[in-house]
Amino acid sequence: MTDEAPAKKELAAVKGTKDILPEEVGSWQALERIVRATFELYGYRELRAPVFEATELFEKGTGQTSDIVTKEMYTFTDKAGRSLTLRPEYTPSVVRAIIEHRLDLRPEPLRYYYMGPMFRYDKPQKGRYRQFHQVDVEVFGEKDAAVDAELIEMAHALLGTLGIPGTETLVNSVGDRTCRPVYLKALREAARAKAAELCPDCQRKVETNPLRIFDCKIAACQLAAESFPRILDYLCPECRGHFQALLGWLDLYKIPYRVEPRLVRGLDYYTKTTFEVVSGGLGAQNALLGGGRYDDMMKDFGGPDLCAIGFAMGMERVLSVAKLPSEKKRFLYLAYLGQGAKKVGLELARFFRRNGVKCLVEFKDRGMRAHFARASKLEAAWVLIVGDDELRKGRFGLKDMTTGRQVEGTRDELLAGLRAG
Ligand code: HAM
Repeated sequence: MTDEAPAKKELAAVKGTKDILPEEVGSWQALERIVRATFELYGYRELRAPVFEATELFEKGTGQTSDIVTKEMYTFTDKAGRSLTLRPEYTPSVVRAIIEHRLDLRPEPLRYYYMGPMFRYDKPQKGRYRQFHQVDVEVFGEKDAAVDAELIEMAHALLGTLGIPGTETLVNSVGDRTCRPVYLKALREAARAKAAELCPDCQRKVETNPLRIFDCKIAACQLAAESFPRILDYLCPECRGHFQALLGWLDLYKIPYRVEPRLVRGLDYYTKTTFEVVSGGLGAQNALLGGGRYDDMMKDFGGPDLCAIGFAMGMERVLSVAKLPSEKKRFLYLAYLGQGAKKVGLELARFFRRNGVKCLVEFKDRGMRAHFARASKLEAAWVLIVGDDELRKGRFGLKDMTTGRQVEGTRDELLAGLRAG
């Protein structure tokens, strides 16, 4: 290292971000495969939106009183002076895309999913990162509580396929614009009476949005919140009916759940149903996935009056509890001796790859012993031997590294042998 070289620390990944190394990527790909296969069975299609959006989108969508907007956004001004934000969540982007492309006028169902990185400036800890990955799924224009249940059932099907044991499903209703103001009034009064016991942040929330006190993780605030009125006691007939219908459908699906009246979730847009699936194996950050209904966002954005529901699942959290075998594809190692053999060897590698055989060629001139040592270190399944003899005969050697058996043949014969196993 020269004097000018920056210290190692300065070149490290930014706090709260992580590299996903090649040995981990296999399980990410397995997760992505299972997610796609599951969601497509239910008629969802992928929609990919940009990583950054106008800051206003999240202020309006995620909500001015949410922790995400007040504290956690990565916001910057671009060269043209626009305020942009790295998406902290995906839901507002989907709503924007539907309005922008008038997807609501198309005949296909408005069911979308996506997988990708999200960004939140939160305190990093186990299961909580500043760049993390979500699987997000949203359905629009279905007001029947049966779709809420179908979404929760789909989440269960997914977690089942991923082999995640020991989960618990929490459900609640946060009411709508008819009943929530009445509840908020009662909640604010109760919270004012306990204000002295609350943290400074929650004292502020008493006036801005007392619902957000339920999101606070501080023990004193949680204790105070236990005595607060329950939103379920304030639901209007419409919201109560929707919630009862949801529970009925969940019973029909035989999905065990717990009604958790404090589950208001940290985002401002929810109406009626909210839900979370938590896992005992995760520690403090125990939510694997969370979501709910947000029937007003589309019309609040100036779009059509379309109700919506969705959820997002944390991929890092799922991978920390799922047992996903990463498939290791068996491969052939090319051992060539000399320049003539290198040319023929590369043609052979191309031939085998075109026929679906994974082939590794390292452009280092090695002797045969060194080739074999390297192949065995890399755990190659086979070594293809191309030396002067083989060049002359047009027949090549293929050694099975597991059995030690070596055969000789033309490239077609060797391929047939590989295929026959
Ligand atoms: P959320 O509850 O903020 O909801 O995030 C969903 C999931 O993302 C969490 O349950 C967790 O697994 C994961 N997650 C959140 N923050 C972090 C973090 N800092 N590090 C690692 N994982 C994290 C939403 O984002 C809503 N958009 C869900 C939704 C979709 N509601 C309706 N449609």
